[in-house]
Amino acid sequence: MIGDEMSVLAAAHPQPRTRLLGKTGLQVSALGIGTNKWQQGKNDAAVFETYRTCLDNGFTFFDTAEVYGFGKSERLLGECLRRDRRPAIIATKFAPFIVRRSKRHLLKALDASLNRLGVASIDLYYIHFPHFGNHFELADAMAEAVQAGKVHHVGVSNFGATQMRRIADRLARTNIQLAANQVHYSLLHRNPESNGVLEACREVGASLVAYFPLAGGKLAAASGGRNARLQALPDLLARVAATHNATPAQVALNWLLARDPCVIPIPGASHSNSAKQNIGALDWTLTAEEFAAIDVASGGGR
Ligand SMILES: NC(=O)c1ccc[n+]([C@@H]2O[C@H](COP(=O)([O-])OP(=O)(O)OC[C@H]3O[C@@H](n4cnc5c(N)ncnc54)[C@H](OP(=O)(O)O)[C@@H]3O)[C@@H](O)[C@H]2O)c1
Repeated sequence: MIGDEMSVLAAAHPQPRTRLLGKTGLQVSALGIGTNKWQQGKNDAAVFETYRTCLDNGFTFFDTAEVYGFGKSERLLGECLRRDRRPAIIATKFAPFIVRRSKRHLLKALDASLNRLGVASIDLYYIHFPHFGNHFELADAMAEAVQAGKVHHVGVSNFGATQMRRIADRLARTNIQLAANQVHYSLLHRNPESNGVLEACREVGASLVAYFPLAGGKLAAASGGRNARLQALPDLLARVAATHNATPAQVALNWLLARDPCVIPIPGASHSNSAKQNIGALDWTLTAEEFAAIDVASGGGR
């Protein structure tokens, strides 16, 4: 009986609302906010409300990119920053398309992002995806941006384990710590556990920022569609959610947070209801038994 009571208490226990971004010393909200569906001129009112809801609850780690809506997401986030002067932590990304992979290209794109966001510096600047060559010129451009005070911390996105170790080594030459690798990671896509990226993040001391953590909303639904095999996981998420008076989306985010302290999921939200629900994921904790059952139902990281 005492054991049962203790497990209920542990399960209801709220989680820390912040996590360290790699070894940078910067504390960010334990869940970030993805903004790839923010489209200036289309959903401004809903986005302003979402932004306010996040800040009211201490969720201040916003993720954007120059390519989202061809700059519209950055512009709208900049508008949020101007309207609501409370501090926020901004991450954005440089896209190294085939015609723009030089230091000059990165520094020019950075200035354009700063301009759209209306800020003098960016907290976390990522290389959005790898290319086939080495990334030393881009790493050196990042280092120059840090020295110029335009970027505080440097990350990569969609990089494999070897690629991220190489760039971490290159940055270390200028005493810059690779802060994060942002990769696709959810209960329906556990590749970072098997392809070495999670292990590399731990080893290098970088955060694993998990994008698509709700599989585009699929993990928020209580149905796996027509495929009976895929129905086991949503059924389990719904059952666990009911035990905690929570939602399947909260369970899915909770599981990622419990998987490793270096993981920082960034669920996308363009409506304040989504943001409110996701913030609530930190109000309680999965039991060890629930964690293990979800682990098995989602493929055990294979
Ligand atoms: N680095 C990369 O290559 C890369 C690639 C893809 C995405 N990203 C980043 O990762 C972020 C997250 O990915 P994502 O937005 O594509 O996918 P996601 O987080 O898996 O899902 C977002 C979708 O789920 C909905 N949603 C969010 N919370 C919900 C909740 N509690 N209940 C029900 N529905 C909910 C959202 O609705 P509403 O929008 O209506 O609120 C949105 O449609 C992006 O915004 C972006 O910043 C990075």
